[in-house]
Amino acid sequence: MTLTHMHSPRRAAEGVTLLSADLSLPGLGILPINAFVLHGPRPMLVDTGLPGLRADFMAALASVIDPADLAYVWITHTDADYLGSLDAVLQAAPNARLVTTYLGMGKMSLMGRPVDRAYLLNPGQTLDLGDRAVTALAPPCFDAPETTGLFDPRGGILFSADAFGCPVSSPAEIAADIPAEALRAGMQVWAQIDAPWLGMTDGAAYAARLDEVRRLAPRTILGSHLPPAHGMTDTLLGNLAEARTAPPFIGPDQAALESMMAAA
Ligand SMILES: [Fe+2]
Ligand SMILES: [Fe+2]
Repeated sequence: MTLTHMHSPRRAAEGVTLLSADLSLPGLGILPINAFVLHGPRPMLVDTGLPGLRADFMAALASVIDPADLAYVWITHTDADYLGSLDAVLQAAPNARLVTTYLGMGKMSLMGRPVDRAYLLNPGQTLDLGDRAVTALAPPCFDAPETTGLFDPRGGILFSADAFGCPVSSPAEIAADIPAEALRAGMQVWAQIDAPWLGMTDGAAYAARLDEVRRLAPRTILGSHLPPAHGMTDTLLGNLAEARTAPPFIGPDQAALESMMAAA
């Protein structure tokens, strides 16, 4: 896996800035690693990027907001690509509360992360950002049980964490720039990597989970591993529905790894 530098911060949606980096996955393509700043009376950072890019992440963050103004840092879940700059952010944002769940707090505490500023929020509960309240939710696909995405009803924006991810062959500004078939295939591969339990789910129960997203009718979906997707909710839900019965992902074995390294 190869890190690249951070992209310049860019607009993800009205009042939301995207802080994005690319992670190169041999044989799979490029996986965007996204974090978001929600601007407003009580600004919030959602996730904190990759550990190897801490200095770049902090510089990108500081270019769009004074971190000291952050009211909240929302950690969708405790994978490495979400906690990269957490310590540095909490230091630079002394007033920010760390939004997570009981399980998320426990896991971060086991990793030696400071959780004294934790603010526990369960799916269905809301957080007041001053000009709107966002609601925590459990996304239809996830790789960690503490995962909470969120919905911003004012902008019709779903922050979906790992759900709706897609490795791409080259960086894309928005999800609509990814050819439809590449998006469909990439989302299926990602879903099977991230949620290998998908094939064990009951089809009707899984469809009901997808319907929960459909009922929210998000105008924009902002995933951790997808460029911003505007007006694509039906397409993304259709791709994710198909992913349930997609072939399971089996990674390269040692012989394949050695031949990839030799080729590199
Ligand atoms: Fe994850
Ligand atoms: Fe992820």
